[in-house]
Amino acid sequence: GRSQGGESVLGVAVTHTTTPRPRPTGTKLGFGRYLTDHVLVAEHDAATGWQPARIVPTGSTRAEIASGALQYGLSIFEGLKAFKTDRELRLFRPDAHAKRFAVSAKRLCMPEVPVETFINAVRALVRVDADWCPAQTGGGALYIRPTLYADESFLGVRPAQQHVFSVLLSPVDSYWDGEEHSLKLWAEREFTRAALGGVGSVKTGGNYASSLLAAKRAKERGFDQVLWLDAVKRDFLEEAGTMNVFVRIGDTVITPPLEGTILAGITRDSCLTLLREWGVPVEERPVSLTELGEAAKAGKAIEMWGTGTAAVISPIGEVAWENGSIKSTGFEVAPRLRKAIDGIHSGRDADTHGWIVSV
Ligand code: COI
Repeated sequence: GRSQGGESVLGVAVTHTTTPRPRPTGTKLGFGRYLTDHVLVAEHDAATGWQPARIVPTGSTRAEIASGALQYGLSIFEGLKAFKTDRELRLFRPDAHAKRFAVSAKRLCMPEVPVETFINAVRALVRVDADWCPAQTGGGALYIRPTLYADESFLGVRPAQQHVFSVLLSPVDSYWDGEEHSLKLWAEREFTRAALGGVGSVKTGGNYASSLLAAKRAKERGFDQVLWLDAVKRDFLEEAGTMNVFVRIGDTVITPPLEGTILAGITRDSCLTLLREWGVPVEERPVSLTELGEAAKAGKAIEMWGTGTAAVISPIGEVAWENGSIKSTGFEVAPRLRKAIDGIHSGRDADTHGWIVSV
């Protein structure tokens, strides 16, 4: 239900719910199981442009059954987090997320949400549902999911004339089920995630839909997630579907370059910045299972980890395939990065990069 009233937050009209949603119970939130009381929506029509955003009760909006979103996957999203400190709620690099959102929109012929509009929408909604944000300890955060989707009722294949920009919030802690452990990844040689010229660098739902069968099979083999390999040689590391990947061989940290087939992760970028500041040798270049295997055989130290907003920094203990595997020999850089990123999120450490934006 909804209540009447003329409240607005940061210029966004708010209709408060009259039927608050059940609060999480138990000690573990997990990832994405709970939604807060409100969502933000703004409509766009090609003829008239953006309508003002509004915040309404979760569950009070509807989607168009003949839309490009449902029929053809015309949908993009972002994932960012709000953290609670003693003093405030704060966002991590919302401007970088807004810019990536605009790049995704362009690739799928969707209207651009101006960076300022995106950030204001996120701040307004987080303010309204601020009391849903868990403590930052234990990885707690409000996960913020902005989405842009085609909502025109039209079955022809062409850019849609009507779109909706929405934002929803989910209180989360760890992305992974069960005990903290280093991940086991299945190096996938049958299926691929993306090829040059496709939409691998776009945060669109279809990339996640197409990942599920490989992920299901990897799970059945006892692995946590798939490690995607390049579509040509099936040897070079791409990403892990919900994480970018980093490897350390000896003293050198290597991560695959942004050449159009992988997501330009914000956590990836933050890690590269920190590593360069620390004077750690870093290389953005193609790195293959073959190279890792040879380094392991030569007795070099190997460390692997994933980065992402949801996964933060997740150590990878092992990468395996039909007839081989590579194991991390120890974790040094990943825990240091985790501590640094957590420190910036929580306010324990100074934000020297302008990455934090107050809600
Ligand atoms: C994120 O890290 O925010 C992601 O988008 C990965 C996944 C949960 C979809």
